[in-house]
Amino acid sequence: MRRKKLILRSYELTMQQTQAYIKANRQRFLDELLDLIRIPSISTHPEHDNDVRRAAEFLQESLKAAGADKVEICSTERHPIVYAEKIIDPKLPTVLVYGHYDVQPPDPIELWDSPPFEPTIKNGKIFARGACDDKGQLFMHIKAFEAMMQTKELPCNVKFVIEGEEEIGSENLPQFIKENTERLSADVVLISDTSMIANDMPSITVGLRGICYMQVEVTGPNRDLHSGTYGGGVMNPINALCEMIAKLKDDKNRITIPGFYDKVVELSAAERAALAESPFDLEAYKADLGIEEVAGEEGYTTLERISVRPTLDVNGIWGGYTGQGAKTVIASKAFAKISMRLVPNQNSEEISKLFTNYLTSLAPKGIKVHVKNYHGGEPVVTPTNSIAYKAAEMAMEQTFGRKPIAQRGGGSIPIVQLFKSIMGVNSILMGFGLDDDAIHSPNESFGLFNFYKGIETIPYFYKNFAELSERAKNL
Ligand code: BES
Ligand code: MN
Ligand code: MN
Repeated sequence: MRRKKLILRSYELTMQQTQAYIKANRQRFLDELLDLIRIPSISTHPEHDNDVRRAAEFLQESLKAAGADKVEICSTERHPIVYAEKIIDPKLPTVLVYGHYDVQPPDPIELWDSPPFEPTIKNGKIFARGACDDKGQLFMHIKAFEAMMQTKELPCNVKFVIEGEEEIGSENLPQFIKENTERLSADVVLISDTSMIANDMPSITVGLRGICYMQVEVTGPNRDLHSGTYGGGVMNPINALCEMIAKLKDDKNRITIPGFYDKVVELSAAERAALAESPFDLEAYKADLGIEEVAGEEGYTTLERISVRPTLDVNGIWGGYTGQGAKTVIASKAFAKISMRLVPNQNSEEISKLFTNYLTSLAPKGIKVHVKNYHGGEPVVTPTNSIAYKAAEMAMEQTFGRKPIAQRGGGSIPIVQLFKSIMGVNSILMGFGLDDDAIHSPNESFGLFNFYKGIETIPYFYKNFAELSERAKNL
């Protein structure tokens, strides 16, 4: 009897009231998001710790107002995690929504056309730090949840885990998941923190690269020296660092670290052919970036290079005199921040050791090397033959009028692999951003079209997921 009632319930829902509610509350949803964006929750800067906390409190209030139960700010050694849930029936499937409310620093601030934490709407887009990554995208989930709650159309259980440390490597989240496996138990993790191909070409991300982030410090003489008095007589650490970095790639743009590619999973010919079917306009890509030529590993297409191949990039390099004018000096030290993006089945810890050993071996005599490992994250590939994937695909087709394409993403969300390895749960990466939203860059933006499309699509995911799960149970 009970089962029958459940079937009726999930099949009865049309989400029409939910959609009407969304329409009626569009402006308020946006106003609330802009308030969230105004909080400069930059996780990496300790002077913003209080702002990070305020953003967590803002979300706590939003979730309560939306109708969630057990809303809690969970302290960690650094930034808090916001937890909330709505269990309508333990027999129904459970969706765990993950997002992050911390943002990257806005630097270089002088390149912004409007202040990064004063959201400005121009050409149908919100311009601000965090507009897309990830405040705009996570807020879609809270508003979709609110709409389903207020119209009594929520078709399954929901849990929210929203962290404040994603942009600094999610250091405290793994422990939280390990300690709360039971409380977080779910049938799927739903995340909007990635991008789609285009507004008329929806896509679902089915893989992310891992990351290995290193900082290198090289030391030459014990103090800064006059570059005339000593120039030519000692190893200059900046020159040495540049030479060492230059040796990390060969003339085919392959990474030279011994063992680096040993575990890399090569794509089959069929997989490469499928990837080549993905719409990608190389000329538009170059024009957008203002470059005459692309660059990367020989033998691979640009799309492959930015998604399924591992990379090594210098993210920052400094040392010596960088102020105005000229100063003749040989620095004592030089520094670089270097990231490597990893693909299945590379492991960030192994790669960080290979990197450290090789870079140290490249140091010329007279140069000391110190390598520090910042954060790591493992690559992930998510299944496309699951009920959850089907539910996401159908949801996007329902709101975009076009079936989404599966694509592998080049960025990293380290926690995705950990949800899998710790809890055994797969994630759906249903992002609504665009690559030219300039996340992490000046003038980050998020289209109003994308914000509202996300809010409209998410309820259909819930409905489809509940229905397909119910159907599978009855088979
Ligand atoms: N949302 C991004 C990751 C992303 C962006 C994935 C676009 C796919 C497409 C996330 O906030 C991020 O920036 N992650 C960091 C990882 C980290 C450990 C700092 C990254 O990828 O650099
Ligand atoms: Mn993000
Ligand atoms: Mn980010």
